[in-house]
Amino acid sequence: MRLLLALLALGAARPVACAESHWCYDIQAEAPNSVCEGPDKWGGDCQKEQQSPINIVTTKAEVDHNLGPFSFFGYDGKNTWTVQNNGHSVMVLLGDNVMIAGGGLAAQYRAKQLHLHWSVELDRGSEHSLDGDRFAMELHVVHEKEKQTSRNQKEAQDSNDEIAVLAFLVEDGSEENEGFRPLVEALSKIPQPNTNTTMSASLLDLLPKKEKLRHYFRYLGSLTTPNCDEKVVWTVFEEPIRLHRDQILAFSQKLFYDNQQKLNMTDNVRPLQRRGKRPVFKSQAAGLLLPLPLPALLAPTLAGLAAAFLH
Ligand SMILES: *[C@@H]1O[C@H](CO)[C@@H](O)[C@H](O)[C@H]1NC(C)=O
Ligand SMILES: *[C@@H]1O[C@H](CO)[C@@H](O)[C@H](O)[C@H]1NC(C)=O
Ligand SMILES: [Zn+2]
Repeated sequence: MRLLLALLALGAARPVACAESHWCYDIQAEAPNSVCEGPDKWGGDCQKEQQSPINIVTTKAEVDHNLGPFSFFGYDGKNTWTVQNNGHSVMVLLGDNVMIAGGGLAAQYRAKQLHLHWSVELDRGSEHSLDGDRFAMELHVVHEKEKQTSRNQKEAQDSNDEIAVLAFLVEDGSEENEGFRPLVEALSKIPQPNTNTTMSASLLDLLPKKEKLRHYFRYLGSLTTPNCDEKVVWTVFEEPIRLHRDQILAFSQKLFYDNQQKLNMTDNVRPLQRRGKRPVFKSQAAGLLLPLPLPALLAPTLAGLAAAFLH
């Protein structure tokens, strides 16, 4: 009888466990005894039509002349940041003093956090792909739109650009990326989910050189984790970050999805979503370098105009 009651109690507990079962990546869903929900079962907005990531067909992206350079505020300041294993990725909390503007965005955006996606397969760790090619990792810097007092709350909540994510693709190289050293070293201190540590670095240390950040792709999509809210204005930079192969592999070796440290944190990558009818734009001259410096191109035109005017 006791046993029966115990079994009944277990049975009753089951649906609760199910309702509480958490979202996860395919590699976790496929692990033995897994109860979590992989990407094809994610709830919220995840099964809708304006989702991310997507494959970007670079030759089909339309040039948009409004996509000028970004202004970065606080990206160069050296700070001590909190670094967390949040069970899905490694996340760096960015405080309150990091902002972006420009880049064709409608407002200023305040940085909240950055995190990465990766794999041990060096062509399977990015979420976005360019012309079908995936990269070793992808770094996301997540920003929230600064509220303007004149805008009403409802409009703010409904807008599809509440969040601006700057996405950087990561390629493997043969040189150590020194800017990444503090982050890679921090990984060993947070193997288990829901643990944190700190690291000292500036954000610019992690990114490609500023002058290489003029070329990028732009489209409207979603967060790539539940609830996949469709309110993200995406910027995918053309210039990749380069890390030594060992630095890339350290993410899969040092971090775990579980407290028992049985399941390495890797392949934390959402599968590609349909682009549908959404346009993808590119900043002027993405993929091209101007053959001549701009003044050299403009000078004859200006001279021509002046001549016409004087005539
Ligand atoms: C980091 O972890 C410690 C110990 O678990 C906790 O007390 C602290 O609040 C955490 N800090 C942040 C910013 O999450
Ligand atoms: C998983 O983690 C262990 C312990 O750090 C490491 O030896 C192993 O190489 C990792 N596996 C992968 C696929 O990275
Ligand atoms: Zn992400």
